[in-house]
Amino acid sequence: PATSLQDIVGHAKEYGFVFPSSEIYDGLQAVYDYGQNGVELKNNLKAAWWKAMTQLNDNIVGIDAAIFMHPLTWKASGHVDGFNDPMIDNKDSKKRYRADQLLEGKAEQYEKDGQPEKAKALLAEMGRLLSAEDLNGVRELIIAEDIKCQVSGTTNWTEVRQFNLMFSTQVGSVAEESSMIYLRPETAQGIFVNFLNVQKSGRMKVPFGIAQIGKAFRNEIVARQFIFRMREFEQMEMQFFVRPGTEEEWYDKWKEGRMKFHQAIGLPAEKLKYHDHDKLAHYAKAAVDIEFEFPFGFREIEGIHSRSDFDLRNHQELSKKKQQYFDADLDENGKPYGNYIPYVVETSVGADRLFLATFCNAYTVESVGEGDSAKERTFLKLHPALAPFKAAVLPLVKKDGLAEKAQMLANSLKSSFRTVYDDNAAIGKRYTRQDLIGTPFCIVVDYQTMEDDTVTIRHRDSMEQERVHISELKEKIGYQVAI
Ligand code: GAP
Repeated sequence: PATSLQDIVGHAKEYGFVFPSSEIYDGLQAVYDYGQNGVELKNNLKAAWWKAMTQLNDNIVGIDAAIFMHPLTWKASGHVDGFNDPMIDNKDSKKRYRADQLLEGKAEQYEKDGQPEKAKALLAEMGRLLSAEDLNGVRELIIAEDIKCQVSGTTNWTEVRQFNLMFSTQVGSVAEESSMIYLRPETAQGIFVNFLNVQKSGRMKVPFGIAQIGKAFRNEIVARQFIFRMREFEQMEMQFFVRPGTEEEWYDKWKEGRMKFHQAIGLPAEKLKYHDHDKLAHYAKAAVDIEFEFPFGFREIEGIHSRSDFDLRNHQELSKKKQQYFDADLDENGKPYGNYIPYVVETSVGADRLFLATFCNAYTVESVGEGDSAKERTFLKLHPALAPFKAAVLPLVKKDGLAEKAQMLANSLKSSFRTVYDDNAAIGKRYTRQDLIGTPFCIVVDYQTMEDDTVTIRHRDSMEQERVHISELKEKIGYQVAI
């Protein structure tokens, strides 16, 4: 049977990947904690991204900006005025919904019922109403489409209201009104306000990029689908600063490059696709999503946006500090390009969504054996470079010095890879333990090891075993993400 989201949630919790936040108090909606295995997988994903950006590109450097930023940042970025979701309440059930998601749900229904034209027309009409900020029109469309509340089954809707997604809090004395600040809803602005600091201190030449990994916060009203949509999450963003007029070329390059990255970390091409945006965010001139096929359908994991000079220009206006770059390269007339505000192509991926995509893709249940001895085997088919443990070292039995030998081997591997030693229970059971958390290689120390320093490597996916000399181990299992 196909994997359900419940299977994923259950496995993630049982094997120490993801726990509901504050679970002993019955959890906190749309907030999750990563467990002992989850944090390793997530760190490995972040490391792969960081390497792909700042190690493999000479012209991309990283920063780590603060979560708190000057309040004017969010005025300049457009988030104070434009970062809203249209919300609608059902008067009978008092349940709140995102108006656009209700309409998208209806369009999906049309699609399923074999009426793709109707679906398309509905989405187009919705896009038109939302960009005209015709909230009354959105409400009328919901009523005309006879969309019912999932809880009460009625169509008794309130008006549609815009709801800002930013969290705010107080710095310093609570009484002072001016001390209100926001938790950043995207990491990108920490990059924009540091554009000149990095450009000057790093003597960076356009085109160049600044990468950052960090937490972002959004008061998502409709929190669903596990760690897909959270109130506190992590973004991996890169702003690529280019000369105006070259942005399309860079947009195409990053669009392609980012798709390659997802395949390099093990997401299969057939589960990935592009989705071009008709409905653009307030800052974007062009935008495309990379979508992954989750158990609940194709959904966005990353956005690539052509942001023009929207952000830098607005920061220049509000801060009164020039955000210009002097380009000494010569144009076709032999003159320097001179001063300009660079254009920006952004790549923005959610670390948690990438985690969920990787986890869903890795989760495998297969039947092994035949007839009466047929069994189901569950394992995580993670890329070896991403798995929480790269190797498990297992003595076949504890006696006759095998345990000590295995322990020594585990210790010698530890400085190169995350390695676990396990001598508890029958060997088959220990393999299963490692399968469930995705350890790609089980290294078994047996009696022959004591004679000739060879061990067996049992491969997670094929369950095949091969005999190798201990001195070959590091090379045999040292997989990297090939980006
Ligand atoms: N700076 C551009 C930006 O923030 P976005 O499309 O709003 O663009 C980028 O977000 C990525 O951040 C998304 O593709 C998604 O992976 C992740 N993301 C956004 N909201 C999220 C949420 N509530 N929970 C988890 N991830 C989220």
